[in-house]
Amino acid sequence: MIDPFGRRIDYLRVSVTDRCDFRCKYCMSENMTFLPKKDVLSLEELELVSAAFIRKGVRKIRITGGEPLVRKGIMELFRNLGLYIKSGELDELTLTTNGSQLEKYAGELYDAGVRRLNVSLDTLDPYRFQDITRWGNFEKVRAGIRAAKEAGLKIKINTVALKGFNDHEFNDLIKWTGEEGMDITFIETMPMGAIDEHRSDQYLPLSEVKKEFSASWTLTPSQYRTGGPSDYFDIKETGGRVGFITPLSHNFCESCNRVRLTCTGMLYMCLGQQDSADLKAVLRGQNGFAALDAAIDEAIGRKPKGHDFVIDRKSDDRPAVPRHMSVTGG
Ligand code: GTP
Ligand code: 5AD
Ligand code: SF4
Repeated sequence: MIDPFGRRIDYLRVSVTDRCDFRCKYCMSENMTFLPKKDVLSLEELELVSAAFIRKGVRKIRITGGEPLVRKGIMELFRNLGLYIKSGELDELTLTTNGSQLEKYAGELYDAGVRRLNVSLDTLDPYRFQDITRWGNFEKVRAGIRAAKEAGLKIKINTVALKGFNDHEFNDLIKWTGEEGMDITFIETMPMGAIDEHRSDQYLPLSEVKKEFSASWTLTPSQYRTGGPSDYFDIKETGGRVGFITPLSHNFCESCNRVRLTCTGMLYMCLGQQDSADLKAVLRGQNGFAALDAAIDEAIGRKPKGHDFVIDRKSDDRPAVPRHMSVTGG
């Protein structure tokens, strides 16, 4: 699949639920209204749509949420999509998780064909963890990370950079991930959906953070590529890698290779735009797989050039898009 700007689309992110057992302050408000269960695609339907994308050339699928591992029966989807890894039709099946259920599922994920996963962790301090996630349990996440390592899964930690919250911990996080043999990515907070706080109070441009890191770490641009937006650097002192996802301070849309399916079957062609295609209606309609393939082609033909994220007081902290990150899984 090639979009109107000549970009090859071979990466599908599938949000299997918009629900989550945490309420991270930069992601959600405390009182969230979730999508009605009747609108949510069954796991079989999610698999059918994923299979259509694989037919059309998708080589990498990332399962996201909300928190993907809170969806009932989710291992069935991993097992079934894992068959495409085994047959060589997919290069990678992976997920982004908050880690709360990893202790339970790490082994099964590995058996399904998952080899790498991303765990969100913004602080190493249990009290601050409780503060930022509102509902999270730090020890449970640490135990989940340990279980994933023991199962043989390669882990990347995702840390959202939040001014005045975790900026004093970045060096500790780099040191810890280095010791644990994990990569780490810092992410700029993105203006998606209404939250209870001001995003302009939280926003920390990573261009500045990266400059400050050079006082403590020897960073050299890495050859490592995941097909994601993260710009990686090798860290001489730890032997690990640090990545930066900078949608605000440095836009990377020109190399975008992905689209996002929500749990209700909406296809979003860009994280930062509202345009979408309703694949559920097509899937449940009369015209079968040919109609689904045609609807996907039509949607890819509408993929926009990029997002228009800004965070400043002038924009009155209005989100760039009304939906939360948890609808599309980032
Ligand atoms: P890889 O694709 O394997 O490199 O992983 P990733 O780091 O892209 O995925 P992950 O789900 O861990 O997402 C990390 C952060 O990147 C999240 O905050 C996502 O919202 C963000 N992100 C992923 N893709 C895009 C994108 O196309 N645009 C923007 N603005 N952010 C993205
Ligand atoms: N801006 C940036 N990152 C976010 N995440 C959730 N909400 C936001 C936001 N508004 C992160 C999570 C997770 C990843 C999928 O996105 O921490 O690691
Ligand atoms: Fe849940 Fe992830 Fe959002 Fe936190 S960032 S509330 S863990 S979906």
